[in-house]
Order: sequence, then C-alpha cells, then structure tokens
Amino acid sequence: MKDINWNEYSLETQAIRAGHRRTHEDEHSMPIFATSSYVFDSAEEAALRFTGQKAGNIYSRFTNPTVNAFQERLALMEKGERCLAFASGMAAIMAVGMGLLKAGDHVVCSRSVFGNTVLMFQNYFGKFGVETDFVELTDLAAWESAIKPNTRFLFLETPSNPLIEIADIERIAAIAHNHGCLLVVDNVFCTPVLQKPLALGADIVVHSATKYIDGQGRCVGGAVVASEELIEKHIYPYLRTGGSTMSPFNAWVFLSGLETLAVRMKAHCDSAFELAKWLEQQPGVAKVHYPGLTSHAQHELARRQQAHFGAVVSFELNGGKEQAWRLIDSTKMLSITANLGDVKTTITHPASTTHGRLAPEVRAAAGIKDGLVRVSVGLENIDDIKNDLLRGLES
Ligand SMILES: Cc1ncc(COP(=O)(O)O)c(C=O)c1O
Repeated sequence: MKDINWNEYSLETQAIRAGHRRTHEDEHSMPIFATSSYVFDSAEEAALRFTGQKAGNIYSRFTNPTVNAFQERLALMEKGERCLAFASGMAAIMAVGMGLLKAGDHVVCSRSVFGNTVLMFQNYFGKFGVETDFVELTDLAAWESAIKPNTRFLFLETPSNPLIEIADIERIAAIAHNHGCLLVVDNVFCTPVLQKPLALGADIVVHSATKYIDGQGRCVGGAVVASEELIEKHIYPYLRTGGSTMSPFNAWVFLSGLETLAVRMKAHCDSAFELAKWLEQQPGVAKVHYPGLTSHAQHELARRQQAHFGAVVSFELNGGKEQAWRLIDSTKMLSITANLGDVKTTITHPASTTHGRLAPEVRAAAGIKDGLVRVSVGLENIDDIKNDLLRGLES
C-alpha cells in the first residue's frame, strides 16, 4: 500500500480513506478484526510489546486494528494528534475525568450539558472528592470567576443540548489557559465537519459516536481526541486499565459512518434550517431555538465558529408538558426517541427524558421548560417532516 500523508488531504477524503492499512489479503474495505488477543514470535517479542519498546498489538482491550483505524481517521478529521475510542460517549467523558482528576481537584462545567454529564461530575466524581461548579454556557465572566486554584479543566458542549446555545470556544479556551486549566469540548452536535474545537484552542474533544458519526442509530460508542502527550500520559493508561473499550464491530460501523458524514451533515443542516424557519411561523410555537435564525442570541458567533448551523432544532410551545406530550403523540412518522443524529427524524421531550433525572431546580436553572420539544432533523423529505409536525401542532 502506498505511503500517504493524510494530513495533506481534505476532511472529506480523510473520512473515506485514512486509517485503513491494507493487509496482505489486499482487501478494499476495512476488515473487522474479531480477535481478543495477538500472538508473538517469541517470549522476548512479547515482553518488548508489553513494555512498549516494540510497536504492535497486544490485547484488544487497548489495541485492535479496526478500532485503531477509526481512531486514526477521527484524529485527522478533528485535527488532533491522537484519538482513543471508547464503549460510549459517557465512557469517553468518564475517561477524561478518570485520567485527569484526583481528589481535591475542581471542575467548571457548563450548566447546559447532557443530563448524564451533569450526573457524572456531580454524583460520581463528587463521590471521590472532586468538586464541580456549573456556570451559564454563554457567560464568559461566570467561567472566569468560577475558576479556583485547584481547577483542572473547563467542560462544555456547543451547541448545547437541548437549547442549542453557542459557546465562544476561542475565548473560553483563552480564559482556561490564562488560569493554567484545560478546556474540554463535547463536539457531538457539530462533528468535525461543522466545527473543530482543537483548532479554536480547546485541548480535548469528546464524542458520542452514537450520534452523527454512526448516523443510522445502530451502535453506541465514544472517543477522546487530544495531543499525543495528554492521551499518552493521562487517557491511554486509564483505558488500558479501566477497559471501557470500543468493540471492533462498532468501530467498523463508525468507520463507514465517517465515510458519509460530510454529505449527511450538509443535508441534515439544510433541512434543519428550513424547519426552524417554518416553525417560527407556526401559531402555538412561542420560541424556536436554532442558531441559523437571526432571532438566536449567538447567531453571529455560530456563523463565525461553525461551517453550518447544525441539525437539532428545539422549540417551546405555548403551554407546558401536557401540550408538549400531545404534540409528540400526534406525530405519526417521527420517532419518539431521545437519540439524535440519525437519518430518521427523532422527537423528544427533554424535561421528562434526557434531562428528567435532574432535580427540577437544576433543570429550571438550565432553562429547560416543560413546553420544550427537541427535534433532531433527519434526511426524510422535509415536507413529510413538516406535515407530521403540523398534525401535532394542530392537535
Ligand atoms: C452531547 C452528548 N454528549 C454525550 C452523550 C453521551 O453519549 P453516549 O450515549 O454515546 O454515551 C450524549 C448522548 O446522548 C450527548 O447527546
């Protein structure tokens, strides 16, 4: 196989070709290496591989060629030095915390992150003596004033879920670095096709590959992308010991997901923009949250920071939970599921699903009202999506 420097290629090409090292069988498509362990030519070679003095596979908890191909491809697309794959997006976030934090450390986290991320920092890292303060995503002064001498990292999601607020990655990275902290960005909603946080100054990117990277709602997986130093010193040792590994089958599905990611994201975003503009015109809709709309508070920032505005649209109904549930139940085609990033359009009521386990006051502080509905816009014909929602809105 020819030696190619994939850094010289564009994201669309990297997404299709990078990471696959063809074997002696000359296969065109990446194979699934369904093997838990690997054999060595001698006892000495085994010892050299275990100590890291010689490169090569050892055991699939931490080295597998299919998983490696996924890692190499995603690292290139995110413009990061190295990527590690995990069993889920939450496992990736857990690995960042386990790798970097110790008892007595402090984290500053956006209030508008995925509900389980809040629980992870508050309940689980909290249990082991790590304190977390939650701040308003878009309030730069709040980020700065929440930092303490023992703050290890700042954590945010942009756009946020489910209110689609946009954080200024460049400015928050500068705040973090001025205080000797790292910035971790959850890039699930944008993927590297729309936004590259590392190029904007973030230190670590986390992914739930379960969403757009798969794209067809089949597998659960996650990833961490960062510098060689951060991965080698802090994240890889945890993966090797903790074992929250991505399976080769899932890596194979995610590799083919990456191949179509750029074209899918463009189509998703075009439909979401059209739907958001249409929803703004509908009686009964009190507010539409979509950064492509000029009514969105961070419209200009989104235009600057992202290649497109994303594919998740949230809207508030006049009324509360009863109206939101009635609308959701009146749709026929849309999938009532909390997942997002699928070719199938999904609809959910965040206050009683993704954010339902949060205390009501935490949910209220995050601005998640009972009348809020979130739609992850899929690739069906946009008129069919509108008609399904219209049935719900008329109800
Ligand atoms: C923004 C975001 N981050 C992280 C996760 C967690 O990912 P996973 O479900 O793959 O564990 C999710 C899941 O919904 C998410 O929406």
